Amino acid sequence: MDSFELNKIAGAVLGSLLFVMGVSVVSDALFSAPHGEKPGYPLPAAEEHHGGVAAAPEVVVPLPILLAKADPKKGENLVKACAACHSFDPSGAPKATGPNLYGVIDRPVASTGFAYSDAMKAKGGKWGYEQINAFISNPKGIVAGTKMSYAGEKDAAKRADILAYLRTLSNNPAPLPTP
Ligand code: HEC
Repeated sequence: MDSFELNKIAGAVLGSLLFVMGVSVVSDALFSAPHGEKPGYPLPAAEEHHGGVAAAPEVVVPLPILLAKADPKKGENLVKACAACHSFDPSGAPKATGPNLYGVIDRPVASTGFAYSDAMKAKGGKWGYEQINAFISNPKGIVAGTKMSYAGEKDAAKRADILAYLRTLSNNPAPLPTP
């Protein structure tokens, strides 16, 4: 083997090395992901958990069960929100802002000396536990056009406490519904 042949071999080896390097540089340029850009596909958004605990689905407890464990003492405190407009006085005298609520449970709707709205006068029926419960959860949603400008108590247990207290405002409290 002469030096000319050695040079050819060395040249071939170098040539293929250069070729391999060149291919790897080009393929890096082609396939490496550009930095600092968004991933090429949407990532699922992280779910938001408040306090790390998933919100439990709302369980609807029937009113008779809530009433069975309701606390009229708590209710007495909660009706302070109603007392802005309503009187609970046994005399039955209304306030200018709302009808008297003494003995309201099982009382016919719009049956006191208060100047009721036409919507309330047209409602009909009586104020059983279920009816008051629904009305005070969302007054305008239940009696469209009512004069009662009260947003509503959204907490079912608190409404049951309110009902338990209203029940005591009677000479002859209406029996609680049986669960
Ligand atoms: C901003 C004043 C206001 C507040 C607060 C309010 N009410 Fe009333 N409520 C009224 C008015 C006014 C009426 C009469 C509505 C009508 O004629 O449309 C009424 C009517 C009622 C009636 C029907 C009475 C009847 O004789 O037919 C019930 C029951 C009642 N309210 C319960 C409550 C309870 C319980 C609360 C507290 C959780 C409450 N209201 C808070 C103003 C108010």
